Amino acid sequence: MTARLAGKTALITGASRGIGLAIAEAFAREGANLALNARDPVRLAETAAALSAAHGVRVTPHAADVTDRAAMQRMVQDVEALGPVDILVNNAGIHMARPFLEYSFETFREVLETNVYGVVHVTQFVLPGMIARKQGRVINIASTAGKGGTRNQSAYNASKHAVVGLTRCLALEMVAHNVLVNAICPWVVDTDMATGFIGEHAKNLGIDPAQATANFLAMVPIKRFIRPEEVANLAVFLGSDESSYVNGQSWAVDGGYSMI
Ligand SMILES: NC(=O)c1ccc[n+]([C@@H]2O[C@H](COP(=O)([O-])OP(=O)(O)OC[C@H]3O[C@@H](n4cnc5c(N)ncnc54)[C@H](OP(=O)(O)O)[C@@H]3O)[C@@H](O)[C@H]2O)c1
Repeated sequence: MTARLAGKTALITGASRGIGLAIAEAFAREGANLALNARDPVRLAETAAALSAAHGVRVTPHAADVTDRAAMQRMVQDVEALGPVDILVNNAGIHMARPFLEYSFETFREVLETNVYGVVHVTQFVLPGMIARKQGRVINIASTAGKGGTRNQSAYNASKHAVVGLTRCLALEMVAHNVLVNAICPWVVDTDMATGFIGEHAKNLGIDPAQATANFLAMVPIKRFIRPEEVANLAVFLGSDESSYVNGQSWAVDGGYSMI
């Protein structure tokens, strides 16, 4: 069987661990060449080398902070010097859980700078090439937090609602250029981020992390957290030719969480 992403190049932000790494692995398995981004250069270089060795595709590391607009412009130029970007996955994100009145403005802004403006920067530099070639896919990793309210994480939910809104608007603007834009909205995925925010929620509620974990699990019909590769499976579909009539959607990967 032909690999589903053979001949394509994907730029994935936040790709050194968690969901981004799982997407990178799944894309490499399907034959895509990869340009990977995260801040920690050592971990990113190790990730890139391991994926390239395991899957025989070209994988280049591009360590930079998505909040740094000039660095994102340089990164996209460096990536495009190797070849066009067919698929952009905006995955880099952070999460700070606090009651609204306990956010410092700086913390609230940091979440939006990363989760919203990081997406804006990278996407604004990648889209012109996709428009010129009349071909492209943008996949934004949002969250179920982009579809509803959650106590004590207003900055995160505001940022992910913005990503869902951005996805819809770009899907409308880009469709004439044969660039399709979709979002994935996972519930709790078993990554470093989830360990961090469950701990923060526990602290905010004055309970221990085991109780906070049990409280989260009680919310979902499938009584477990999501494995990162379960998000990556959908990203492969959205990056492939199989999703050629799918545009502007915010796909829940949530075990039924949002239907009840
Ligand atoms: N885990 C969940 O439950 C969950 C649920 C729904 C949606 N999501 C979303 O899925 C995405 C990935 O989450 P995750 O759980 O995989 O997170 P994670 O385990 O914390 O990994 C985050 C990745 O992003 C990178 N990163 C963070 N800030 C960055 C920045 N400013 N510039 C560039 N890279 C940055 C990190 O590497 P460095 O630290 O080296 O930069 C790392 O590679 C996020 O957008 C998150 O909001 C997560």
